[in-house]
Amino acid sequence: MLKQEDNEKITRSGPGTPLGNLLRSYWQPAALVSEMPGERPVKAVRIMSEDLVLFKKREGWGLISRYCAHRGVDLSYGRLEEDGIRCLYHGWLYDGQGRCVEQPAEPDHSQFLGKIRISNYPCVEKNGIIFTYMGAGDPPPFPHYDCFVAPDEYTFAFKGLWECNWLQGLEGGIDPSHVSFLHRFIQEDPREMYGQQFAEEVEGTGKKLSMLVGESYRPDIEVESADHGLRVYALRQLTEDIKHVRVTNLLFPNAFVVPFGNTKVFTQWHVPIDDENHYWFMIWYDFAEPTDKETLLQQRLDGVSLPDYRPLRNRSNNWGFDPQEQKELTYTGMGLDINVHDQWAVESMGPIQDRTVERLGISDRAVTANRRMLLRAIDSFAAGGQTPSHPVSEAEAAALTGPLAMDTIAANDAWQSRWVQREQERRDASPWAAPLETAEETVDA
Ligand code: FES
Ligand SMILES: [Fe+2]
Repeated sequence: MLKQEDNEKITRSGPGTPLGNLLRSYWQPAALVSEMPGERPVKAVRIMSEDLVLFKKREGWGLISRYCAHRGVDLSYGRLEEDGIRCLYHGWLYDGQGRCVEQPAEPDHSQFLGKIRISNYPCVEKNGIIFTYMGAGDPPPFPHYDCFVAPDEYTFAFKGLWECNWLQGLEGGIDPSHVSFLHRFIQEDPREMYGQQFAEEVEGTGKKLSMLVGESYRPDIEVESADHGLRVYALRQLTEDIKHVRVTNLLFPNAFVVPFGNTKVFTQWHVPIDDENHYWFMIWYDFAEPTDKETLLQQRLDGVSLPDYRPLRNRSNNWGFDPQEQKELTYTGMGLDINVHDQWAVESMGPIQDRTVERLGISDRAVTANRRMLLRAIDSFAAGGQTPSHPVSEAEAAALTGPLAMDTIAANDAWQSRWVQREQERRDASPWAAPLETAEETVDA
């Protein structure tokens, strides 16, 4: 349960808000490379209540205010030129740094142009996502997390619209106990494996993860702080001697890193559009095999409408809720896509969850720990202090690695060393992953 003022503090991200300032001091996903139209790569985007236009430059991407400084016309309809984007109304031309570089209707000798500059944010493309830095001063270097260092062919990026506050989405990702209920199947899990979360068999158990966590629904949850944010262990006793160990992470401030089968992991950011809507963006990476991007993209595009990436199942159609299906097939009655289950859970709370009336238990440990860390970081940032997962030098960025995420089984008394050993094996066999010694400095084997 939170005080109203704290709930406001961790949910409002518009310009000048304490949370908005903190989130803007990190690189944030702005768009998928695959969503930018080929013919005319220009797109209106809204991030943290700021209306912007993203466009392709001769090299890289420009992200500037959506509205022309002259008389406020929408630049997302502008003419894309080699040197920037030109307003349709009177032809003012803006470059990728938001500078007005031509005002064709003004007199030749006019100096007016030099005075005009609109909001502009640097962009960097990483594994299918265009990231932007909307904070003050120079951007921080990118941490060396696996999602950024994996070669492109071993990754896949996608996004989706969730119509609720960003923090609801994020908190779902660091809540290890919900998977035993929300994602359960009444009968056999009928899904094909590739690209489906919780559908792979957990090595050594003969069971799909969806069944394993459904049967073992009271995990012990342990949370520890790490340089990247939080590491969360969910331990499920399978037999007298054997535990299932699931290691997931909060990647401060607005992402999580969780396993997606035995060789795959994904990092998912939750980025505010405004306070009541957000996009999740993910980079999926495979330690063993190149990804089949086409299949993964089609699977996911089939479930959304474009250009907004709004799921076909949404509040307007009760997320496709079917009581018969709830009886016979899925715990939710909302289809086989686990992502829709998560979407329903967090959208059903309303646009901004009222955290003054919730009742948290022991199993909410990670959620509680994250809120504490977030509130502390908002204050620390406002006071000019350091915040987690925020390198100030290339050396610090290089030390931010992993985070390690894994599902495995282990003997009761050796689980701490066993999962690290499994991670080591996975990395040793990987054509690209860094060895564990450098992969995450803070894990004690
Ligand atoms: S409003 Fe854009 S050039 Fe006049
Ligand atoms: Fe989930």
